[in-house]
Amino acid sequence: MPKHIVRLVILIVGLLAVGLSAKAYFTVDTFYDYGHYRGASVTDIATSHEPRYRGPGYCQMCHIQQYEVWSSHGHKTNKCEVCHGPAGQHPVTGKLPIPQDTVKLCTQCHQKITGRPAKQPQIVVAEHAGTMACIYCHDPHQPRPIRIKEAKQ
Ligand code: HEC
Ligand code: HEC
Ligand code: HEC
Ligand code: HEC
Repeated sequence: MPKHIVRLVILIVGLLAVGLSAKAYFTVDTFYDYGHYRGASVTDIATSHEPRYRGPGYCQMCHIQQYEVWSSHGHKTNKCEVCHGPAGQHPVTGKLPIPQDTVKLCTQCHQKITGRPAKQPQIVVAEHAGTMACIYCHDPHQPRPIRIKEAKQ
């Protein structure tokens, strides 16, 4: 083989060796565990957000009384955070809101609508209560039996 070809082959083999070792050195451990990305990024992304919703079991620890009432009455299928919003880091970040406009809140699920599942109790709000607050007669944690709410002091 002519000398210049030998040199060229050595050069190419040399570059190839450098390239391959660089690839091995710079590729992170979990690359290609699942596909063309770093496998560990899956857990990184999954754990980078704080949970927004906690579920009623979380509330039970501190709001024992509300939990007891709620879990033994007709609204036990409605999770606390449906009405009170996502708990996130509550109570560290502050109180959760107490829904003020119950006509607006309760109507979302109880206004009679054609096609709404029959097992979801429905009323014609205007005939049922007019503009009265629903919580005047229904405790939201125990919607039945009816109560008459005492005026707030
Ligand atoms: C680690 C204890 C803890 C947990 C868990 C917790 N809370 Fe609370 N919550 C508190 C404290 C403390 C307050 C403030 C009470 C106060 O200042 O009157 C509060 C206040 C509230 C209030 C406002 C009450 C008011 O009178 O203004 C609501 C509504 C509420 N929490 C709902 C929830 C719900 C729903 C959950 C579950 C998703 C939950 N909390 C989980 C401790 C907790
Ligand atoms: C997210 C939807 C939703 C919201 C909001 C909601 N409800 Fe309900 N409610 C339901 C469902 C679903 C049921 C039926 C539960 C079951 O039978 O399992 C129900 C049941 C009831 C019942 C019958 C309970 C029983 O024991 O027979 C009453 C009364 C009631 N709700 C009133 C209210 C009032 C008042 C509010 C507002 C404070 C309200 N609901 C907010 C979904 C909702
Ligand atoms: C259907 C909607 C709804 C659901 C579900 C619900 N709440 Fe409430 N919650 C309300 C409303 C409305 C009030 C205000 C009641 C009032 O002023 O009489 C309230 C009041 C509260 C308060 C203030 C103190 C009190 O008792 O009035 C706390 C604390 C609370 N809820 C916690 C919870 C917890 C914990 C759960 C689940 C175990 C839950 N709530 C489920 C609608 C709801
Ligand atoms: C003046 C009192 C009063 C007010 C205010 C009131 N309700 Fe009622 N509600 C009743 C009574 C009484 C019943 C029948 C109770 C029973 O059968 O145990 C009832 C029953 C219901 C039922 C069950 C219907 C069924 O077919 O099982 C739902 C759902 C309901 N109310 C939702 C609401 C909603 C939503 C509001 C607010 C927009 C509201 N109520 C306001 C007194 C009231």
